Amino acid sequence: MASPLSRKITLNDLRRARENGPPLPMLTCYDYTTAGLMQQAGVSSLLVGDSAGNVLLGHPTTLPVTLAFMIEITAAVRRGAPLAFLLADMPFGSYHGSIDRGIKNIVKMLQRTGCDGVKIEVGETNLELVRTAADAGVAIVAHMGLRPQSVGVLGGYRVQGKNADDANSVVRLATRMQEAGAAALLLEAVPTEVAQAVIGAVSIPVIGCGAGSACHAQVVVTHDILGLTPHRPRFAPQLGDLATPTMNVLADYAAQVQGGKFPASEHEYHLAPGELEKFEQGQSKRSAAASKQSLGS
Ligand code: KIV
Repeated sequence: MASPLSRKITLNDLRRARENGPPLPMLTCYDYTTAGLMQQAGVSSLLVGDSAGNVLLGHPTTLPVTLAFMIEITAAVRRGAPLAFLLADMPFGSYHGSIDRGIKNIVKMLQRTGCDGVKIEVGETNLELVRTAADAGVAIVAHMGLRPQSVGVLGGYRVQGKNADDANSVVRLATRMQEAGAAALLLEAVPTEVAQAVIGAVSIPVIGCGAGSACHAQVVVTHDILGLTPHRPRFAPQLGDLATPTMNVLADYAAQVQGGKFPASEHEYHLAPGELEKFEQGQSKRSAAASKQSLGS
């Protein structure tokens, strides 16, 4: 097992991974307790992804996720893992409409959560926002390839850049994002050859999520590797089965309550010595007074 984090991980660590490896492990994280476990386990970078909308809230897409919700959970993750490099997803609608609005919401996210950078799902139309945010000193990660917030126009959750034209568009956009000042790119569900071409075309780090082994960090949804999700993308390995032991504990609890085994004496509180008698005397005085009153009425 990797050692617990012992110093603050920053964007420079991601840059170093680009220069001379090894790749950084990155996982999605949505709560304080898991963030603490990840920091202990040596997971150096965390992404508060809007996939929270799927795995935590049960929505079929990430579109209903709000900025207020993302801010709340990102701040919780920051408290749990102060040393990790922490990226926050800007949810659907929070960086659209105007540059001013996008910047205002990005600033809100940074100021209220203490995250180290933000991620937005990008197309050509987002170049100006990336430029303005980068000029303001924001570490902004441009998410390309499969963009779940655009599932409507993409027509489903499909591998992107599969033909030569689409592959060229991904590489072109990557270079433009770098020119605009993106601190890093994230490539989701693109062929390995496309990721390699992007890496060759830019000098900023590239985070892979189903983009092959050449990337400088690898991110997947934590619930997928823990075996907690019913459907997992092909690129995410299932590294454990937490669903079965969790269900066993839950069933055990239900059985203990139903069978009268829980709570046992060690789970109970009792009145302090001498207080029980006083309490019982008070109780009997109260019930005597109550029955007098009901007789009189
Ligand atoms: O929301 C998310 O979890 C993500 C990753 C899968 C890249 O954007």
